Amino acid sequence: MTVPESVETHARNWDLRHEDFNDPDLLYDVYAEMRQSCPIAHTDRPFLADTPDGAWVATRYADCYRIAQDWQHFSNNPIPDTVEHVAGDLVVMMDPPRQQKLRKVLNPYFSPARMKALRPQIAAETDLLIDEFIESGSGDLAQVAWRQPGIVLFRYVLGMPTDDVSVCFDLTDTALNGATEQARMTAWGELYAHLHDTVAARAGRAPRDDMIDVLLNARIDGEKLPFTDVVSNAMLLVQAGLETTASAMSFAFHHLATHPADRDRLTAEPELLPRAVEELIRYAGSIHGLHRTVIEDVELSGHTFRPGETVVVNFASANRDENVFPDADRCILDRRENRHLGFGAGVHRCLGSNLARLEFQVAVERVLTRIPDYTLAPGRPATFHGNSITRGYRAIPVVFTPGPTSGA
Ligand code: HEM
Repeated sequence: MTVPESVETHARNWDLRHEDFNDPDLLYDVYAEMRQSCPIAHTDRPFLADTPDGAWVATRYADCYRIAQDWQHFSNNPIPDTVEHVAGDLVVMMDPPRQQKLRKVLNPYFSPARMKALRPQIAAETDLLIDEFIESGSGDLAQVAWRQPGIVLFRYVLGMPTDDVSVCFDLTDTALNGATEQARMTAWGELYAHLHDTVAARAGRAPRDDMIDVLLNARIDGEKLPFTDVVSNAMLLVQAGLETTASAMSFAFHHLATHPADRDRLTAEPELLPRAVEELIRYAGSIHGLHRTVIEDVELSGHTFRPGETVVVNFASANRDENVFPDADRCILDRRENRHLGFGAGVHRCLGSNLARLEFQVAVERVLTRIPDYTLAPGRPATFHGNSITRGYRAIPVVFTPGPTSGA
């Protein structure tokens, strides 16, 4: 086993793919050091961009918030003078005004009221996953965390067969976490091809009230979206809606298994759930760094950014900033002031946050209702996957008092 590098060494050149970050706590120690000693840090190895000069990394809440708000200086487009990308324009890589026009088309589909109406279906889907192991008194809660968001997204939002979930999941996982750049690029290509075929198969079919139809029928300035944009944005939804929610949920299940006082409190006071979910997202569920490209000279916290430079906005670090969140390294289920950046801020604030919150709340509620005394299974360790922009548990073996299936 190799000896981990020191917190200071990591902070000087933060590399999210580093194997040391499979230790769930080390990364947050590194962020604390970065916020303290070098709030606009530099990395040679930004996670999602292959920029030869590396990237700046913003780690304090105030800086991350300001960058997320200031799209005029910090563009989401990695090549800002390019109008169209080869594989289509993604909402997350556009800037206003076009980005806002596309959001206007997409936002209504994810409205709180529309998502709330899905609650019974989400509860039933979650119950079916728990049914698979509830009678035996032991199971793996990572299976609930990693499968429920995919089933809900594909069946009720995208209108895609749930058989596709595991294919898309594996491709997304390889695209983000594959061992080599080649493996990652190949997986992106295959995911695109899969979504391309799915969208193409809709041609001439009767309309269905799902997100792929919303994209196919979307009009911006009176014009339909190019086909490549429809495919790319469908792919973005797959990618943005699976690993994010799954890893956040897995962290929550693990936290409750290892903090029985929190588990029992949430079971006894389910009305705390909405606030607890926000806190769990602040504490552990957020994305560890999305990119912006500097458009023109701009100063922030005494640092001048130059045009063309890449800046990583580290929402996860911002969410542990003591200047904003007292006792930031503690998960406080009923935290009141909680303007976390787990879903980002500004024009790109998460499109799917209402869905993610609902999936998360329902999952925790169903697990605590049906197996309230669950704890980690002795001798079968939970497995943590830590070197990715989203981090979570891939296995959470648990034991509990057996119960009946839901009969769903
Ligand atoms: C706990 C789960 C989730 C977390 C932590 C999360 C986090 C985020 C963050 C931080 C952003 C901001 C991106 C930026 O500033 O560049 C974002 C954007 C986005 N999210 Fe989520 N997300 C989650 C779940 C979802 C789900 C379930 C969906 C869809 C089904 C989704 C779809 C999107 C999309 C499409 C964007 C881009 C919006 C835009 O650029 O205008 N997310 N998300």
